[in-house]
Amino acid sequence: MLRFVMEPCACPAALFLLLSAAVLLGATAFEVEIKDDKNATCIYAKLSVNITVQYETNTSSSKNVTFPVPSKVTTNGSSCGSDSEAPILVTHFGNSHSWSLNFTKNESTYSGSALIFTYNTNDTTLFPDALRKGLLSSPATFLGPVPLNSTYKCISSEVVVGKNVTQIIYDVKLEAFVPNGTLGKEVTCDADKPYPSPSPTQPSTTASTTTPAPTSKPLDNPTTGNYTVSDVNGTCLLASMGLQINTSLLSEGENIWTPFNIDPWVIKSNGTCTNQTGTLILTENSTIIEFTFALKNKNHFYLEGVNVTLINGSAFSYRQNQNLSDWEASVGSSYMCHKEQQIKVSEDLFISAFDVRVQPFGVHNGTFDTAQQCSLDDDSIVIPIVVGAALTGLIVIIVVAYLIGRRRGYAGYQTL
Ligand SMILES: *[C@@H]1O[C@H](CO)[C@@H](O)[C@H](O)[C@H]1NC(C)=O
Ligand SMILES: *[C@@H]1O[C@H](CO)[C@@H](O)[C@H](O)[C@H]1NC(C)=O
Ligand SMILES: *[C@@H]1O[C@H](CO)[C@@H](O)[C@H](O)[C@H]1NC(C)=O
Ligand SMILES: *[C@@H]1O[C@H](CO)[C@@H](O)[C@H](O)[C@H]1NC(C)=O
Ligand SMILES: *[C@@H]1O[C@H](CO)[C@@H](O)[C@H](O)[C@H]1NC(C)=O
Ligand SMILES: *[C@@H]1O[C@H](CO)[C@@H](O)[C@H](O)[C@H]1NC(C)=O
Ligand SMILES: *[C@@H]1O[C@H](CO)[C@@H](O)[C@H](O)[C@H]1NC(C)=O
Ligand SMILES: *[C@@H]1O[C@H](CO)[C@@H](O)[C@H](O)[C@H]1NC(C)=O
Ligand SMILES: *[C@@H]1O[C@H](CO)[C@@H](O)[C@H](O)[C@H]1NC(C)=O
Ligand SMILES: *[C@@H]1O[C@H](CO)[C@@H](O)[C@H](O)[C@H]1NC(C)=O
Ligand SMILES: *[C@@H]1O[C@H](CO)[C@@H](O)[C@H](O)[C@H]1NC(C)=O
Ligand SMILES: *[C@@H]1O[C@H](CO)[C@@H](O)[C@H](O)[C@H]1NC(C)=O
Repeated sequence: MLRFVMEPCACPAALFLLLSAAVLLGATAFEVEIKDDKNATCIYAKLSVNITVQYETNTSSSKNVTFPVPSKVTTNGSSCGSDSEAPILVTHFGNSHSWSLNFTKNESTYSGSALIFTYNTNDTTLFPDALRKGLLSSPATFLGPVPLNSTYKCISSEVVVGKNVTQIIYDVKLEAFVPNGTLGKEVTCDADKPYPSPSPTQPSTTASTTTPAPTSKPLDNPTTGNYTVSDVNGTCLLASMGLQINTSLLSEGENIWTPFNIDPWVIKSNGTCTNQTGTLILTENSTIIEFTFALKNKNHFYLEGVNVTLINGSAFSYRQNQNLSDWEASVGSSYMCHKEQQIKVSEDLFISAFDVRVQPFGVHNGTFDTAQQCSLDDDSIVIPIVVGAALTGLIVIIVVAYLIGRRRGYAGYQTL
């Protein structure tokens, strides 16, 4: 994860320069509305984006340039979509740079699909010394599920990382699939919610099937579910595991951790397979968990990312960690681990996985290949060693105590 931390600065002059530069450049926001053929708005967006591009210079080093998307953008190529085509917002600015985001929806929510930033390294003001000249694209993802008919509002910054490009997106007001050209009520992103004071937007009903009552006693281990993802050639990803989510997000601002199990019987699973990534998406009522597997050195796979969406009425939370390196095994085998493993998704949410077996690549005939067992499970040797060491220690202590006792006694007899 990238961190944007300002070092404490002992030089007021530099700080002043920095501040005045920021004031001069000004925080920029762009505002656009995409309209359908009846002149009704279908996408509304007002947001600020700061972009940092890392590029290769002609002195074969790499350099970073940071610039905001300006307030003046054009929207050629944007569209409200159709039955077969996703709505897309495209903004053009400067010297052939563009920022585009397309959207998907299901019955209750919409989300961003692909955020593609395309930059033209021919632009000599931004990339004066670029080694390669021309258009480069950096795909990323932005905008987790938002309830339909509502406007997503988020003042807090979100850092979106793509290939060679890091974007800071903030002060967002956005709605896609706007019904009838009228913006819906605003829903606030988690980051903006006052914390730890209770959120007033969430009625504390207990009727919801997805919000478990806070439990103080530990839960039973979750049931192991079996999941598959298929492509044209049949099953391409296999997974079986029991999942428990533990989060402080459900406690309405109070810092109470609530664990709940994912019930494999109500999960709908799907996903995608390519020769470089595999994704497994598990949807249970209002909980969506997505696992992304990637390849390392072509012959090993690993769990690269997990994201979790919790939907509760008009409130929803999206948490992700795309910087994992767990569950690694060779391609052509499967990864197995019986012991509980915790995956930290965010400061306020982690997943416990039990009895994991996964194979995201090279699946034949829909069956797991040889398992590579995690080191956690290797306690067949560790336990005897620990017990043995403890016993040896105990024997040594007893012998020493006995010897000391005898000596003392012996010495005592001598003085008499
Ligand atoms: C974005 O960049 C502008 C200057 O171009 C700066 O004023 C603003 O604070 C930046 N915003 C964030 C969230 O980094
Ligand atoms: C759409 O609305 C704008 C202003 O609201 C108007 O200028 C334009 O003529 C309208 N277009 C159509 C096709 O109705
Ligand atoms: C990203 O940057 C690296 C180093 O500057 C470069 O080798 C690579 O080609 C760049 N990738 C893209 C997609 O621009
Ligand atoms: C450019 O930014 C990336 C992360 O965005 C960082 O890892 C890298 O060190 C930076 N390079 C320079 C030359 O500042
Ligand atoms: C959004 O665009 C990306 C890249 O062009 C594409 O792969 C993806 O399928 C699009 N999403 C939808 C919902 O069409
Ligand atoms: C969204 O609004 C449209 C039109 O007003 C309505 O048909 C639809 O049921 C609404 N959907 C949700 C999930 O509220
Ligand atoms: C960039 O410049 C090169 C030549 O310098 C040219 O061939 C190319 O078409 C330009 N690309 C764009 C996107 O402007
Ligand atoms: C949508 O617009 C049509 C025509 O403008 C109107 O008849 C209808 O009542 C509107 N529906 C909603 C839910 O606003
Ligand atoms: C998953 O598969 C195992 C072994 O085939 C089976 O014992 C278990 O009942 C299955 N679990 C579910 C939830 O279907
Ligand atoms: C399906 O199998 C064929 C033949 O083995 C292969 O050429 C093709 O790339 C496979 N397609 C996918 C999507 O894996
Ligand atoms: C997964 O299932 C959901 C809901 O059934 C659907 O909206 C989504 O498009 C599916 N994704 C893929 C990649 O098939
Ligand atoms: C993935 O598949 C595509 C087309 O099937 C192929 O062009 C590409 O080289 C493959 N990549 C790897 C890493 O095997």
